Amino acid sequence: MLNVNELTSLAEELSKASKKGMKIGLVPTMGALHDGHMELIKQARIHAEYVIVSIFINPLQFNQADDFINYPSNLLKDSDKLKNAGVDLLFNPDLKLIYPKKPAVKIDFGNISRNLEGAFRLNHFEGVGLIVMKLFNLIKPDVAFFGLKDLQQYVLIKNLIKEFSYPIKLYGVPTVREENGLALSSRNVHLSPSGLNIASQIYKGLVWAKKNFKTFNTSEALIIQLKKFYHPQDGLTIEYCEILNSNTFKPVKSLQSGGKITLFIAAYVESVRLIDNISLQE
Ligand code: PAF
Repeated sequence: MLNVNELTSLAEELSKASKKGMKIGLVPTMGALHDGHMELIKQARIHAEYVIVSIFINPLQFNQADDFINYPSNLLKDSDKLKNAGVDLLFNPDLKLIYPKKPAVKIDFGNISRNLEGAFRLNHFEGVGLIVMKLFNLIKPDVAFFGLKDLQQYVLIKNLIKEFSYPIKLYGVPTVREENGLALSSRNVHLSPSGLNIASQIYKGLVWAKKNFKTFNTSEALIIQLKKFYHPQDGLTIEYCEILNSNTFKPVKSLQSGGKITLFIAAYVESVRLIDNISLQE
């Protein structure tokens, strides 16, 4: 595996791969790789002949300085995992290479970025938009892989690809979970064994909601009961719990209506912010 952190070698490697007619796959990450990332890479190896993983902790998508400073990072361990997974190139640029100066351009994804993560993490998606566009422009992948745990991010990237006519096929990869249902996340390393156990309640609540949602007429009624489900769990603080149409990201009032209905949640355990979602109706 090649480890590249500047643009000339990146361009050379990309040109060699495309001369060989290889399909280029990109898995953008912020490092601290876990089995969820490895699943993205596995999919990339199925759908592309030359797999690039980027590791860049993008400061512009963090709305809290502490969250950025404490974001887990372990490049040596990550690099070993990527080698073992058969990745062709690790792109690990530094801050100056990506943002030689403070970007003046802002990416606004419109209404679908206003709620959920967009509402609770101010400017988060602006930052995601900038880094993803930079990576797309520098790497020009044929296929790109994003996790469906960040479903709102996935839908925004899908819109970005369409609206900016990027010739990129996007793959959304299902969330990988611990045996107890907890969605894998780089942030889980900050949780104690008891925190991990508390955090596993998040998915249990989502599964409960999926099983029971047909018995409720409105999202409001379901959410009230879901909050009661979570209430006895000390140490779990719900930030949001919302039921939306996952194409439009508009709130769904009646659970008897058609369309794609997804339940989204963000919660804190031991000061660690965790998100998850479950599809209630396809
Ligand atoms: O999902 C992530 O890890 C990040 O938001 C991404 C897509 C790598 C952009 O920094």
